[in-house]
Amino acid sequence: MTATISAFSPVFDRVESQVRSYSRSFPKTFGKAQGATLFDKSGAAYTDFLAGCSTLNYGHNDPDLKAALMDYIASDGIAHGLDMFTDAKQAFLETFERVVLKPRGMDYKLQFTGPTGANAVEAAIKLARKVTGRTEIVAFTNGFHGVTLGALAATGNSGHRQGAGTALPGVSRAAFDGYFGPDIDTADMLDQQLSDPSSGFDAPAAFIVETVQGEGGLNAASPEWLKKIEAIARRHGALFIVDDIQAGCGRTGSFFSFEKMGLDPDIITMAKSLSGMGLPMALTLCKPAHDIWEPAEHNGTFRGNNHAFVTATAAIEKFWSDGAFEAEVATKARYLEDRLGAIAGTHGFTLRGRGMMRGIDTGSGAVAEAICRACFRQGLIIETSGGHDEIVKVLAPLTIGQAQWAAGLDILEMAFDEILGGHRAAAE
Ligand SMILES: Cc1ncc(COP(=O)(O)O)c(C=O)c1O
Repeated sequence: MTATISAFSPVFDRVESQVRSYSRSFPKTFGKAQGATLFDKSGAAYTDFLAGCSTLNYGHNDPDLKAALMDYIASDGIAHGLDMFTDAKQAFLETFERVVLKPRGMDYKLQFTGPTGANAVEAAIKLARKVTGRTEIVAFTNGFHGVTLGALAATGNSGHRQGAGTALPGVSRAAFDGYFGPDIDTADMLDQQLSDPSSGFDAPAAFIVETVQGEGGLNAASPEWLKKIEAIARRHGALFIVDDIQAGCGRTGSFFSFEKMGLDPDIITMAKSLSGMGLPMALTLCKPAHDIWEPAEHNGTFRGNNHAFVTATAAIEKFWSDGAFEAEVATKARYLEDRLGAIAGTHGFTLRGRGMMRGIDTGSGAVAEAICRACFRQGLIIETSGGHDEIVKVLAPLTIGQAQWAAGLDILEMAFDEILGGHRAAAE
């Protein structure tokens, strides 16, 4: 069914701040959601290729996660408990240790920060500074780490940075993998700068990096580059932080985005799909030796979202207890690569990203925007990414059924043809 644009209540324009953004791209009032489908108030269905920017990797209202949460609420389980011990937190910690950490041979302490990704990044940066006694953080071109001041300093995007209204100190910017083209090894450049006492680089407390840059254009770093960057960080006495907020929880195929690359981060940040159901929850993992916080030194009222602990525990049990989900995601990722590769090939564009975090670089923000708007007219929710918003970015729920997956990609293909004058649009 073709979705029609219906009016939304004037209360949004009258009362809500104009800072809102996604509602401008998708000007509908949504009421319900299930799996990979959102429904607006008129009952029109939309396939969701945005998935809360990778917050809904397991889809909307997964029945098992929903049942676990409803049972917990019905039994008067603790909703808010600051950072006190609760049954729900205990179950989450035990499950995370048993299902995620132990099988991967990982030894980390878990810090529950305030519930957004930016909070987890703030904690990571502060901890790295405290551990090393240094202030400078190395962040990368096109990196996105959140919009609170500390995280924003590490974020590259000028549109977000200009909102700070103040200086954003304490971060040195280095070039991400491939930033200057395939022939320039940006890791070697960074190593040289850090080794030169006159380069102007201060000795860093940490490097913070995304393995696939989610907001910055789906740039996927090679495992070799990441290994090199980790080694350079260590050589220069800096901690190695992987920001896995968008690329983690299965988005690139495995629970952590860097699995099987031989990386051993000092600190890992997680949020978004961690709770499994879109409930706010964030985590900063650190090597036990780095866990040198004083009690309450980094705190926050909402560090104990017990409802999120319940759904996160259910999600980890359901999707990560064995290899079935990972295999299913790999199959969907191959299908996505084939379909997007064909579209990109037809129009002379390039494919970006890795796993189920993929997109097409159209080379133009206006073109990518027009394609996304054409998709929305046909009932597909999809957004852009990149420094110029030039990438059409597919972030479907990892649980999407094959028929809906294929149908959504058909809409995307037709939108490319419609906007770029392909044969399909002409034929229909
Ligand atoms: C890699 C990465 N880090 C941090 C953040 C910030 O998370 P939040 O928006 O929950 O503060 C994001 C959000 O998109 C992200 O993609």
